[in-house]
Amino acid sequence: MFHKRLLKEFRDNQKYIAGMVATQWVTLLANVVLMLAAADFIGKMRSGILGIAGIAQILLILAGVLLVRGVMNTLNSRFSFQASTEVKCRLREKVYAKLMKLGGRYRDTIATSEAVQISTEGVDQLEIYFGKYVPQFFYSLLAPLTLFIIVGMMNMKVAGVLLLCVPLIPLSIVAVQKFAKKMLKRYWGTYTELGDSFLENLQGLTTLKIYQADGRYAEKMDEEAEKFRKITMRVLIMQLNSISVMDLVAYGGAAAGIILGILEFGKGSISLEECFFMIMISAEFFLPLRLLGSFFHIAMNGNAAVDKIFRLLDAPVPQKGTVCLTKGNDVQFQNVSFGYDEEKQVLKGVSFEVPQRGFTALVGESGCGKSTIASLLMQDHASYKGKVTVGGVSVCDLAEDTLYSKITRIRHDSYLFKGSVADNLRMGREDASESEMADVLKKVNLYDTVMEKGGLSMQLDEKASNLSGGQKQRLALARAILHDSDIYIFDEATSNIDAESENQIMKVIHGLAGTKTVFLISHRLANVTSADQILMIKDGQIAERGTHLELMGMQGEYARLYKGQKELEKYTGEGAA
Ligand SMILES: Nc1ncnc2c1ncn2[C@@H]1O[C@H](COP(=O)(O)OP(=O)(O)O)[C@@H](O)[C@H]1O
Ligand SMILES: [Mg+2]
Repeated sequence: MFHKRLLKEFRDNQKYIAGMVATQWVTLLANVVLMLAAADFIGKMRSGILGIAGIAQILLILAGVLLVRGVMNTLNSRFSFQASTEVKCRLREKVYAKLMKLGGRYRDTIATSEAVQISTEGVDQLEIYFGKYVPQFFYSLLAPLTLFIIVGMMNMKVAGVLLLCVPLIPLSIVAVQKFAKKMLKRYWGTYTELGDSFLENLQGLTTLKIYQADGRYAEKMDEEAEKFRKITMRVLIMQLNSISVMDLVAYGGAAAGIILGILEFGKGSISLEECFFMIMISAEFFLPLRLLGSFFHIAMNGNAAVDKIFRLLDAPVPQKGTVCLTKGNDVQFQNVSFGYDEEKQVLKGVSFEVPQRGFTALVGESGCGKSTIASLLMQDHASYKGKVTVGGVSVCDLAEDTLYSKITRIRHDSYLFKGSVADNLRMGREDASESEMADVLKKVNLYDTVMEKGGLSMQLDEKASNLSGGQKQRLALARAILHDSDIYIFDEATSNIDAESENQIMKVIHGLAGTKTVFLISHRLANVTSADQILMIKDGQIAERGTHLELMGMQGEYARLYKGQKELEKYTGEGAA
């Protein structure tokens, strides 16, 4: 009935829950007083002894009861608000903190859309859980017992029948619980799946349009939506059916009590006043449990959402390093093996050394594992065998901040943000001056373009969609140069740039290598000829290594690829790949 872990985690919520139960109980007592007064009023009327005093008395009691109910209602809403708001706030904070802890690797644990769904709607489901369901549970135990004592003082038989019918409601709840749990788990599964594809299709809408695949994907989403509609309907049917059963029990039980009360009155074992009171109050035996039953379904939905939240909160956080300093910037891979899945190893015992300062190129066919080597250096994945060190310290032991300030990776699709050019550049270095920003823009051959379009305050749209592919890459490069770290990884960072600009940028990269440790991943071998060291990757291993001249002398894979590209470039006229 309860989510044990949820209650345990939010134990200090108990005071609000106790407050809610107490206010409901006082309201019940006030109602009992009103019913007793009404019964007394009717009794007096029948015996013809109702005077002004009697009328005044009932009006006074009515006013008093209304006042008490008003106050209790207000208090109840306040407690309910506090109980649910606190939990919602704290759960959201926890989810946020957990995502922060998981850092860039959170997607290994949870999809973005699921994280959004559970922390918004999922958490909202708990409003009913804490604000209504839990207090109602306790109140619905307390109310029938209280009424049993009061009615029992008048007639034990009626009180007993009413009390005996009450447990039928929780029994019916328990009966559907297991079933409901399974169904809701499926409901949330389908829901997050639909959210996932919705987000992805929306983000890729332009691509879908270009390939005229939008219709097909719309149909696929329709199918998923239909699946979601069906499971939603099934959940609603299940809830409605179970509520109908509870209604039957509640009103059937009340009717049984009323009929028995009237029979007892006929036999003369209770007075008219008592009979009237029993008729008026018997429904109260069942209403709290009946209400509990309807909250139960919403609470179960909250439970299913909370299970998902706890799964995220419990996900193991990869051990993060704490070392903040490394002496050198030399990089070593020692016998490193890694695969994204068990079956296929991408890297099989890769070893190489890169001295402090200098230019190392990683080359090889597409898919051979160049970017994977870069991502291991950036600690994107922790589950590799062997050792990756920077300045003699394993990258696993390096604190995240240190790692990111030490190594800058520039990919062909580095992210640019909506805002001005200056905003994006200052991400690289917060205190960069205008002249420093102008300098780096000149270095990457972007200065004139930016100046034409409004200078450093030129506004970029989301993902810099108002820049061309090459311009985006150049801006990302400029930002990276401003970042001024010790190690740079350029992963196909100039893949979209025209040959002339590429040559100019390569000069900048080569210049950087005079003072920094530079890795260059490029499919265009003309870019790597001046590298101090070229590592040719093949079949998950370093097949060839050396300078351009050494590798050409070997007459191996590198020489073959280089000659092939040269040949091709002769036909295409210039150096663009
Ligand atoms: N996130 C990923 N999950 C699963 N497989 C991946 C992932 N990234 C890359 N791979 C696979 O690993 C291999 C190496 O990829 P990558 O290092 O990106 O190659 P490249 O040399 O072109 O940069 C490829 O076969 C690719 O399909
Ligand atoms: Mg790659």
